[in-house]
Amino acid sequence: MNPIDLRSDTVTEPTPGMRDAMSRAELGDDVYGEDPTVNRLEASLAERLGFAAGLFVPSGTMSNLLALMAHCERGDEYIVGQQAHTYKYEGGGAAVLGSIQPQPLEGEADGSLDLRKVEAAIKADDFHFARTRLLALENTMQGKVLPLEYLAAARELTRRRGLALHLDGARLFNAAVRSGLEPSVIAGHFDSVSVCLSKGLGAPVGSVLCGDPELIDKARRLRKMVGGGMRQAGVLAAAGLYALDRQVERLAEDHANAERLGEGLRGLGYEVEPVQTNMVYVEVGPRIAALKAHLREQGILITAAPRLRLVTHLDVGADAIPRVIEAFATFH
Ligand SMILES: Cc1ncc(COP(=O)(O)O)c(C=O)c1O
Repeated sequence: MNPIDLRSDTVTEPTPGMRDAMSRAELGDDVYGEDPTVNRLEASLAERLGFAAGLFVPSGTMSNLLALMAHCERGDEYIVGQQAHTYKYEGGGAAVLGSIQPQPLEGEADGSLDLRKVEAAIKADDFHFARTRLLALENTMQGKVLPLEYLAAARELTRRRGLALHLDGARLFNAAVRSGLEPSVIAGHFDSVSVCLSKGLGAPVGSVLCGDPELIDKARRLRKMVGGGMRQAGVLAAAGLYALDRQVERLAEDHANAERLGEGLRGLGYEVEPVQTNMVYVEVGPRIAALKAHLREQGILITAAPRLRLVTHLDVGADAIPRVIEAFATFH
């Protein structure tokens, strides 16, 4: 039996239909701008999110890095959450490769950054300081959906203070499906949005950065610089197009499975954070290593952390949920 892998939604494998679409993709050299499948993916996703241009890149990390470097110059600063992917989990790329200083702020329980704290962190125009240039948000943030009114307030603040606003929308489609909104309604508040095709959407590789043509031109140059210019990348873009056509609505199944998993674990006495999308956060404390070993024996994979994150996705069917709850129930 295949393991139930709850470590991340990045572990999914392409379905037979997706593999078929990949093998039939029309190809060209994308560094010359000649891969029709990449061009179609960039144009169609940008349009779907309400932007004039898009850029296909190998990873979400690269997409965020290019966005930060395209918005900010050397010696500029971006405000970001302490737990945000762009700050904590991307190897410090903005600082290392872009000479962009992060100004991290502690996030709130709902996944937002308190906009009063954001405003207070914007530095005065003074040569002692880095120039605050950008606010970076994440949606979903640890599985939580940022409310639209919050996004509108962030937009208002950044416009008023002359900052750009970037969204790490690795899981933008989870946020859209959960809220019953078109993704463009969320994306429309931002100057740039990075979307991952290789998380809940189920493609093997790739992200798309969307923005205005000027920003995307800058990002294209930066993509080449960091080695992200790919050639017959249409084989990968075809997977992304397939995912965007057929694997968006089904995210609701992942959310329902996560909800049921959360309820089941709560029923066993675990402290479980409210579940909104495909992530279940459970307090397990110091016995995490023993729990991990126990679950492994039952064919269930988790990442060991005292605040345990369980992620549902395309390769975790509804039938897996009772098995996981049962495995937790037999952990003593
Ligand atoms: C919120 C978020 N942003 C960005 C990324 C980076 O994506 P990648 O692994 O493709 O670099 C991830 C990866 O897990 C993520 O969870």
